[in-house]
Amino acid sequence: MDIVAIASQKGGVAKTTTALALSAGLANLGHRVLGVDVDPQYNFSLGAAVPTDDVGQSLFSVFVDNKALSEIIVSSPQGFDVARSLPAMYQTERALAGKMMIELKLAKALKSVQEQYDFCIIDCPPALDLLTTNALLAATHVIIPAQLHSFGAAGVVQIFDMLDRIEPETGIPAPKILGVLPTFYDARKNLSKDLLAELRKFYKSQVFDAVVPTSAPLEATASVGRSIYQFAPSSSGARAYKRVCLETLARLEGRYK
Ligand SMILES: Nc1ncnc2c1ncn2[C@@H]1O[C@H](COP(=O)(O)OP(=O)(O)O)[C@@H](O)[C@H]1O
Ligand SMILES: [Mg+2]
Repeated sequence: MDIVAIASQKGGVAKTTTALALSAGLANLGHRVLGVDVDPQYNFSLGAAVPTDDVGQSLFSVFVDNKALSEIIVSSPQGFDVARSLPAMYQTERALAGKMMIELKLAKALKSVQEQYDFCIIDCPPALDLLTTNALLAATHVIIPAQLHSFGAAGVVQIFDMLDRIEPETGIPAPKILGVLPTFYDARKNLSKDLLAELRKFYKSQVFDAVVPTSAPLEATASVGRSIYQFAPSSSGARAYKRVCLETLARLEGRYK
């Protein structure tokens, strides 16, 4: 099972949108996918249209009460399974105070389902906190969305720094950077083009060839509980995320550096 975390400490860079589009897209290609929502804002769970009312049925119980991950997994009508988050997740750090190995809760939980899925996609909160640390220590790979609006690229530096610190500080190998994914591209704006050029100059082949444009259906899709491929299959957003899925598979197979 490849475990791909979608991470950045910045909010609004399209982490959740990317996690949802990757989960549904890889499922559409016939893969067994588990989407893991570790953001207490639970936008991934909402977008995947899974029930979010039962507090006992979220990752919080796995982290804090050592409940089996398989007991809280539900299936999304979009073709993949989901380990849900709920606002209770805001209490994780406090609830785990004094417990052991609190950064490795997710890694341990995912080991128990690794035969059941081909891919696990983790949607991270917009912070480099305990929950993101859990995601990065569980992940084999990371995708870092970089928003081409304004200072989106600046957010990339901090997550690179955090990844650099993982192995020296924990002895656990850091996940590989699968790629920096440019999002909110607007071909009519010079700023957008300049930021993309800058990103490619600096991070070179680490930047995805696929670029996600600003696309109105992508903004609407999460609130209707359908995947972008169901909601607006011919939109520029759906087409871009199909390319992202194929490039993700290619990068996982090592066909990119
Ligand atoms: N390519 C896009 N075009 C238009 N709106 C988008 C696009 N990607 C994401 N959005 C919208 O932007 C907002 C932030 O995206 P989201 O995925 O929630 O970011 P994050 O998880 O990084 O905070 C959401 O309202 C989402 O629907
Ligand atoms: Mg999000």
